[in-house]
Amino acid sequence: MPVKPISKMGNLQLAEPSLPITQFATKELYQLIKNMRDTMKLEDGIGLAAPQIGYNKRIIMFGYEEGEQDPTGQSIPFTILINPVIEVLDKTLVNGWEACISVPELCGLVPRYKKIKYSGFDPEGKPISAIAEDYYARILQHETDHLDGILYPQRIKDMRYFGFQDQIIERIRAKKEVIHD
Ligand code: NI
Repeated sequence: MPVKPISKMGNLQLAEPSLPITQFATKELYQLIKNMRDTMKLEDGIGLAAPQIGYNKRIIMFGYEEGEQDPTGQSIPFTILINPVIEVLDKTLVNGWEACISVPELCGLVPRYKKIKYSGFDPEGKPISAIAEDYYARILQHETDHLDGILYPQRIKDMRYFGFQDQIIERIRAKKEVIHD
C-alpha cells in the first residue's frame, strides 16, 4: 500500500478531535495501522497519530521497532495504542524540545508532565497499560494531544523558544540558551 501523505499544520483535520475505535480486529483497522506504520517508518518518526495521515481516529503508535536504534536510551518498545487514556503520576512540568512531522523544520520548548500512566487497547482489543517517564512520557503526551486536535506549538509558553531547527541548534551549540530546566 502506498504511504499516505502527512497532513501539515493549517489542515483543519489536525485541529479536530478524533473519534474512538469501537470495533477491533477489523480489516479496515489493520489497513489503517499498516498505513500508519509504513508512513512512520518512511518519515523516521518516533511517533505518529492517525489524524496526521487524514483519519480522525483515536490511534497512536510510538517507539522503536526491533533492530532500530533507540537514541533516547530509554528502550521505548514499538507500541500501537488505541483509545489512549493518560493518567498523570507526577505533575512536575519538565521543559523539553519537541518537533513534529506535521510541523516540518520547526521545533519548540514544551512543558510536559514528568511521569504518566497510559492505558488503551491493542488492535485486537486487548487492554494494555504502562508507566512512562521523561522523554517516553513526553511522546505519549504529544501523540495523545494529536487526538484532541492539539499540536505542540499550542503548548509553548514562551514563543522565543519556537523556531526553525537549524536556528535553534545553533543557539544550543553556542550555549546561549538553557535547554532544560
Ligand atoms: Ni506530532
